[in-house]
Amino acid sequence: MSTMTQQSDTEAPSIPHAEGTDLVIRLEQVWKTYQMGDQDVNALAGVDLTIKRGSFWAISGSSGSGKSTMLNLLGCLDRPTKGTYLLEGRNIADTSDDELSDIRLKHLGFVFQNFHLIPQLTVQENIALPLFYQGIIGADASEQAAKLATRVGLGDRLEHRPTELSGGQQQRVAIARALSNNPSVLLADEPTGNLDTATGNSIMELLGELHAQGKTIIMVTHEPDIAAHADYELVMRDGNIESISENPPHPSRSDHGGHGS
Ligand SMILES: Nc1ncnc2c1ncn2[C@@H]1O[C@H](COP(=O)(O)OP(=O)(O)OP(=O)(O)O)[C@@H](O)[C@H]1O
Ligand SMILES: [Mg+2]
Repeated sequence: MSTMTQQSDTEAPSIPHAEGTDLVIRLEQVWKTYQMGDQDVNALAGVDLTIKRGSFWAISGSSGSGKSTMLNLLGCLDRPTKGTYLLEGRNIADTSDDELSDIRLKHLGFVFQNFHLIPQLTVQENIALPLFYQGIIGADASEQAAKLATRVGLGDRLEHRPTELSGGQQQRVAIARALSNNPSVLLADEPTGNLDTATGNSIMELLGELHAQGKTIIMVTHEPDIAAHADYELVMRDGNIESISENPPHPSRSDHGGHGS
């Protein structure tokens, strides 16, 4: 019998019964049905999808095609009505609400279009918030939050409040916060939607760096230029996957030109 020790800085999943560690997510015939009066709305209609660890996905598709439903489901904010969602090998359909929120806290990071920072808290405190919810407080949390702030280029803004930052800086804080629990998957809903093009590009470079460091990233976007940063573009249509295409490495990637073999 092996005793699991906690701290391994490889990508080892902390849900123990994950099988095939190169798979993070698997959807099998996933349906999400909303009851509207006497009508059923299939926001997701039998989706099959496999997401490998370390891959970077962009989800697009027209309004009402099911993008937000898909992201909410992947983010364990919701369960499928029918079908199987395996996250790190664990079936999300079988979990209680408490387990679901525990899985979110431990395994997922969220980045939103509107940043969703707490205005009363400093940069450092905002970043430390998910740690707080996991019972990590005091010097440990502060130190970890400061490190993450530095990682997103805001090491000199720890005491600032969100209103004292530019939009791009606020989104960097939100990304640092999303990373603070070292999530298996980073989910981003239109992360550049409220930013000008140049600032949006710098956020995409940051996501590209995180991807290069091995993070799994799933992002909803309706902008082709933004989607081009991902490895895979998934297009939704009427609650299902219309197409998945693979992108060439994005020119902004630091490893471009050097990915020889
Ligand atoms: N809570 C809900 N109750 C009922 N129907 C819903 C609910 N949420 C979504 N839907 C329906 O499910 C379908 C997919 O919605 P979803 O929000 O996933 O689309 P979307 O691709 O994110 O669209 P948009 O680009 O406009 O944000 C739509 O037809 C929508 O009306
Ligand atoms: Mg949406």
